[in-house]
Amino acid sequence: MGKKISRREFVKKTILAGSTIAAGGMFNAVPLFASTAPVRVGCILPYSKVYAVLGESITNGMMLYFDEVGGKAGGRKLEIIKEDDEVNPQVGIRKTKKLVENDKVDFLSGPVASNVLMAMRNYVHDSKTILLVSNAGADAVTREHKSPYIFRTSFSNWMINAPMGEWIYKKISKEVFVTAADYVAGHQMIDSFKEGFIPAGGKIVGEVYPPLGTNDFGPYLTQIAKQKPKAIYCFYAGSDAARFVKQFDEFGLKKTTKLTGAGFMLEEDVLPAEGKAAVGAISGLHWLLGLNNPQNKKFVKEYTKKFKTNPNVYAVQGYDTGRVIVEALNKTGGNTGNKQKLIEVIKNIKFASPRGPFEFDKITHNVIQNIYIREVKLIGGKPTNVEIDVAKGVRDPGVTKKS
Ligand code: BEZ
Repeated sequence: MGKKISRREFVKKTILAGSTIAAGGMFNAVPLFASTAPVRVGCILPYSKVYAVLGESITNGMMLYFDEVGGKAGGRKLEIIKEDDEVNPQVGIRKTKKLVENDKVDFLSGPVASNVLMAMRNYVHDSKTILLVSNAGADAVTREHKSPYIFRTSFSNWMINAPMGEWIYKKISKEVFVTAADYVAGHQMIDSFKEGFIPAGGKIVGEVYPPLGTNDFGPYLTQIAKQKPKAIYCFYAGSDAARFVKQFDEFGLKKTTKLTGAGFMLEEDVLPAEGKAAVGAISGLHWLLGLNNPQNKKFVKEYTKKFKTNPNVYAVQGYDTGRVIVEALNKTGGNTGNKQKLIEVIKNIKFASPRGPFEFDKITHNVIQNIYIREVKLIGGKPTNVEIDVAKGVRDPGVTKKS
């Protein structure tokens, strides 16, 4: 990535490029021409705590895409500025303001956690900053709190789990115990699962919500063990996921209870650590490592070569976010000042992603995509997610649903 430039240098370059209309002042006017200064992408992501690996993977995916296009788009260099939101809404909003007001970023990308996204939403909207949400699934930003400035390249919490409700009822169990990290994303994921499961005839036999960032799931697993449910449906991600799956097995629960849930729990960032504890588990997600399409084969090969590890779903989201930024810049000739034009261009971006077909819902700005149902099988001695079913072209229902 290119190095940062000073504010004085930035202003000089902008003026030399004749990029603003003189009347109306430097900051209010709609630029006629693109600046030649680097395009700055502010990554507001967790680089520490429970979701640290998720933030790093998103950044790596974006860097990979930027490298593929030679680090330039729309005639401008691409620059990433990283800020650690520490999975904390207060830190998230403070660092977001720093990126917008001090670093003058052209785009924001992130965050990972739904609570951080909800804290950032009004500031992003009021400051008219284009935010490409590269993970956090908070349903509200696609519904009652949607904004013309916010696009989501990842998923809404609803779209991962609602298709699983009916599927689990039909194929796995009519009775399910549910558990998730106790914050907005955990509750939305479980509520969305129930939306499909209960109307189909399913019964929830118990629920428990440990805090985000739990080390010892013992007390919660004891509660589940007492119930001996036939199946459990969960949302855990990052270090929570690795610990939960391992401890679930150590408690002997695998013998009585089928492990199912949102696919983050069994993703490539945690699957090697989970090992045999994950085998047999079933989950829904918008990607899997072995997805058989040319874009995914190329992506997995290049990512593995560059970062010496398998990619994961978060890396795919970063890679696709990088692509959206590059296509938007190419189509606007690098002009990031005209927000209305940028919004129109981004809305219409559509491509073949490593995850399958990718397009934005023009009303909600949320991605429309396939949700793959995966089962962890031992292949060549390695736990591997295998596609067993697919829900095609899933679209969040938008404002007609309450969050
Ligand atoms: C969320 O908070 O929205 C989230 C975090 C990790 C994985 C998936 C969703």
